[in-house]
Amino acid sequence: MKTPRMGIPDRLAERMSMAEQHEWLMSQRPSRRSVFRAGALGAGTLLAGPSLLGSAASAGTGPTLVTTNSTADGASVAPFARHLAFGADPRRQIRIGWQVPTPVRRPFIRIGTDPSDLSGRIPAEVRPLHSEVPGAAGPVDQYYLHVELDGLRPDTTYYYGVGHKGYEPPAGAISTVHTAPQRGRWDVQPFTFTAFGDQGVSPHALANDGVVAQQNPAFHLLLGDIAYADPSGQGRPVSATGANGTDIFNPTIWDSYLGQIEAVASRVPWMVATGNHDMEALYSPDGYGGQIARWDFPGNGPKACPSVYSFIYGNVGVISLDANDVSNEIPANLGYSKGSQTSWLKSRLKFLRRQPDVDFVVVFFHHCTYSTTNAHASEGGVRAEWVPLFDAYRVDLVLNGHNHIYERSDPLRGGSPSKAVPIGGTVHPDTDGTTYLSVGGGGRSLYSFPAPDSYAGHVNDAASVNTYSWTGVGVKTPEVVTWSRVRYTGYSFVAVDVTPARLGQPATLTVRAVAESGAELDRVTLVRTAGLCTVGSRGVSGAKADFDAA
Ligand SMILES: [Fe+2]
Ligand SMILES: [Fe+2]
Repeated sequence: MKTPRMGIPDRLAERMSMAEQHEWLMSQRPSRRSVFRAGALGAGTLLAGPSLLGSAASAGTGPTLVTTNSTADGASVAPFARHLAFGADPRRQIRIGWQVPTPVRRPFIRIGTDPSDLSGRIPAEVRPLHSEVPGAAGPVDQYYLHVELDGLRPDTTYYYGVGHKGYEPPAGAISTVHTAPQRGRWDVQPFTFTAFGDQGVSPHALANDGVVAQQNPAFHLLLGDIAYADPSGQGRPVSATGANGTDIFNPTIWDSYLGQIEAVASRVPWMVATGNHDMEALYSPDGYGGQIARWDFPGNGPKACPSVYSFIYGNVGVISLDANDVSNEIPANLGYSKGSQTSWLKSRLKFLRRQPDVDFVVVFFHHCTYSTTNAHASEGGVRAEWVPLFDAYRVDLVLNGHNHIYERSDPLRGGSPSKAVPIGGTVHPDTDGTTYLSVGGGGRSLYSFPAPDSYAGHVNDAASVNTYSWTGVGVKTPEVVTWSRVRYTGYSFVAVDVTPARLGQPATLTVRAVAESGAELDRVTLVRTAGLCTVGSRGVSGAKADFDAA
């Protein structure tokens, strides 16, 4: 099989450090992505031309480039921490990231639909991250590698392996990724996705990964507070010790985190939102330079917000937001998007509600819209900025982290519950309102509620709960609420089973809350009749739906 040359010429690459390779590729970049022409399979022929590379981790605004010229013998360096992401169009765009512990030459992937006949080497982008934390023993250099693949075939399993000069991926390290189905009612089969926030590195975090993998999800949503390399979580300047009001920071926690999730994230797109512990002030811009080096974000949100994006999978439109932008509780990044995020959210919701094949809209972000824990409770900034849009565009489900528990609200509109929905109940979101979940039991630690736990087999309804919301910077306003329907203090996640509308049957979205033991804690089913939505163009505005846009 012919391997096209899309990266650094061999003779040049032999003499270059990773930093030099990165700089050279950035200077040459005519285009960001590799185009994988699925139609040319056998092994998948790569068209010469577009180079890969690029993205926001550029000198000056992103991570500092490494300066080392040392490169280990490639055969002695094993890649680790493979993790997948969708691009803006999950039918055709997959991003593959991984890490190497020391610099290597000419990192690459091979990919194809037949594991015994993979493509030629597709060069990887190098995003080195240099960290000098005050008070630490010395600097830390991390080497993140990325390939962005476009032009894939929908609803197709691809096999891939990662390597570099001197290291070919062994057969046992070939993993898989499956692209999203074609859009349209007759192409979408029932599927499941999963979500949790506040994971960190712990035995509980690992256990949750295992139970998530058992759900065979099409993708996983990480609701912010990812690794806790900054355990202080205030977005302040950092140091190794937290002295003088700084945030404690240890970038090597990311090595453990990305290694921990590899078993599942190397097969399941791991779609992350940023929480307060993901503002790492060491890296510009806005504390997100490290995240840009580590992750592949779809890149179709507002320019200022790397972790804000949206994609459509089957009949579900998904939106990731960055609630640090609107947080009164932890205001380090309050207002950093200058309103561009909320404007983008409105336009994106409008777009999704115009899509004739999108039944459900799911929004995820970190800080809780409606939660009653003793720790963080509810973020008034989210309520003020975004809830009016969630109401106006009939958002079906909102997934939050931040509070390290599981909690489900009754369906709400304008902050008021429309009805009590018990475990096993049904919600009609178009008329009942939006269901809000706090799913922060991903593994880091646990918080407590002011009211008794209430979950499957242990129902303990509370007529009302005394709680509060952050209505201003540093301002907690007490409130008495009746919408707290399910509460569980334990490590947990949600699995969401989606069934498209068929032959007169409505579309359903069933949320199952699952403990790390695998036990079911909660179940609620959201129901939508295809074509019936009180906003959008489904027979209402007459606007032409942009069916194919991502
Ligand atoms: Fe957290
Ligand atoms: Fe948090």
